[in-house]
Amino acid sequence: MKKILHSSLSKKNVGEEVELYGWVAKKRNLGGLIFIDLRDRSGIIQLVVRPEDACYEVTSTVKNEYVLKVIGEIALRESPNPKIATGEIEVLVKELTILNTSIELPFEISEDTTALEDTRLKYRYLDLRRQSLHDTLEIRHKVTMSTRNFLDREGFLEIETPILCKSTPEGARDYLVPSRVNEGKFYALPQSPQLFKQLLMVGGMEKYFQIAKCFRDEDLRADRQPEFTQIDLEMSFVDEEDVMDLGERLVAYLFKEIKGIDVKLPLRRMKYVDAINQYGSDKPDLRFGMPIEEVSELFSNTEVPFFQSVLAEQGIINAIVAKNCASKYSRKEIDKLTDYVKTYRASGLAYIKVEEEWTGSLAKWLSKKEQDDLKNRLSLEENDMVFLVSGKKEIVKTSLGALRLKLGHDLGLIDNKAYEMLWIVDFPSFEYSEEEGRYVSCHHPFTAPKDTDVDKLLHDQANCYSKAYDIVINGYEAGGGSIRIHKQDVQATMFEALGLGEEEIREKFGFFVDALKYGTPPHGGMAFGLDRMVMLLSGTENIRDVIAFPKTASASCLMSEAPNLVTEKQLEELHISLQRGKE
Ligand code: AMO
Repeated sequence: MKKILHSSLSKKNVGEEVELYGWVAKKRNLGGLIFIDLRDRSGIIQLVVRPEDACYEVTSTVKNEYVLKVIGEIALRESPNPKIATGEIEVLVKELTILNTSIELPFEISEDTTALEDTRLKYRYLDLRRQSLHDTLEIRHKVTMSTRNFLDREGFLEIETPILCKSTPEGARDYLVPSRVNEGKFYALPQSPQLFKQLLMVGGMEKYFQIAKCFRDEDLRADRQPEFTQIDLEMSFVDEEDVMDLGERLVAYLFKEIKGIDVKLPLRRMKYVDAINQYGSDKPDLRFGMPIEEVSELFSNTEVPFFQSVLAEQGIINAIVAKNCASKYSRKEIDKLTDYVKTYRASGLAYIKVEEEWTGSLAKWLSKKEQDDLKNRLSLEENDMVFLVSGKKEIVKTSLGALRLKLGHDLGLIDNKAYEMLWIVDFPSFEYSEEEGRYVSCHHPFTAPKDTDVDKLLHDQANCYSKAYDIVINGYEAGGGSIRIHKQDVQATMFEALGLGEEEIREKFGFFVDALKYGTPPHGGMAFGLDRMVMLLSGTENIRDVIAFPKTASASCLMSEAPNLVTEKQLEELHISLQRGKE
């Protein structure tokens, strides 16, 4: 028997006899007739059983989520249902077999279920019966299939790399796996196949890709899972342009294949510093404007007391303008926004309402000149709302960047159907870690510096830029990569710049540094977050919607109850003793 998908049936099949399989989504009894919505992977079809039908009795016993086999004839519906694909037809049932029963469900399987997400995650196999989850998993399948086709045509080889790896520092925390046969030793699950893919280039593979599972023990967010998937690739004998060209052609291909959307190439590029200055983020959402404006110099002779002290301490004053919105903001609302920016460590939120007489927290302090300058600089018009944050540059940018995004959402400025893609380029090689009191890699220690900055690695780290690039779509970091260091002397200098000693390097990356000595080709690559690509293509903001069996924010699986306690015997075999109850 070849199972027919419900969605393949339509008016053209009227009069045909069909054999269908599926789950009972809904059953109604109307004036003696029994109507059943039979669901399969592709959607719903309506069954009708009349009192005179032989199967009427057995149909009466059917309940929600019973599994049925049905033989019947396709007929036109008297009153079509435009909401479903098969809404013009129904099946007049001749034979109905109950293939399995179901106990009562913990929640209704419907798109507008009110069940808590925790309950749905506990019974994920039931939640998976929802059409929207079928749809996103189908998109996920198409993304991986299309990626494989595209990269195969481009001459890439799909190669698997180990899951049980050596723990290496930098980046997020590792998930560790104890070794039974090597007492006291641990494997780490890969945070990405980074070192292995570079070693594949040393091994002469030239073009590698992998749909790779990655594991990172980090704080989770709506777009982060502890185990996630990358479309990971690496190429030899390339520069930034080659990898970015390949990467954006892959994105364009996926958008065309899956959404039928034409992406205009080449994608625009923005320098990292410009992204931070104008949008307060290295992953700006460009579906709307409202850039951050630098207005510090307009206040050089200001009477505004807190601006005076900020400027005296080399801080900055930046603004964003919400056009034609002043009348929308009550005191209470502004207080809420103030609390919001404070979560990004801003000391407060100043505001101006551009009305006939300017009002707001700053109004009484502003000189006529400051008003005029602001008006010109920000092109202010009646009823505009200006928000200002002052303080340390990093805090001002981050908090206004976050406020910009919030206002974009709250004020409905974002076109949910639009896709705005760009590359962020010219990343700094290093960022200063207050915590560690040293410079750390912005990406990873194998990222090549710009040729012009190699000489600055040791003495001018603040001004070194790298050959790294990130692809940003609608405010998500969809992917990123870099050209790698392939010369051992440059790699040694990079380690020195990061303050790693000879012994530490040997201990942590010895095998890798050795490999660089044997004729490593120039190479580079990138990785896309597969889950994030599927989120973007399916229009969800929750990464759990695109993963069949996701984890919660506390990295657990509510269905299988992983992680779990293990037996004393298992621990003994692994030479592990737990210090239970200790901090
Ligand atoms: P990076 O760490 O930027 O680069 O990761 C690449 C892409 O993977 C996605 N991503 C995640 N998705 C879901 N949950 C997570 N916890 C998570 N972390 C990252 C993002 C990100 O852009 N080896 C390098 C790539 C390279 O240089 O070739 C790497 O892993 O979309």
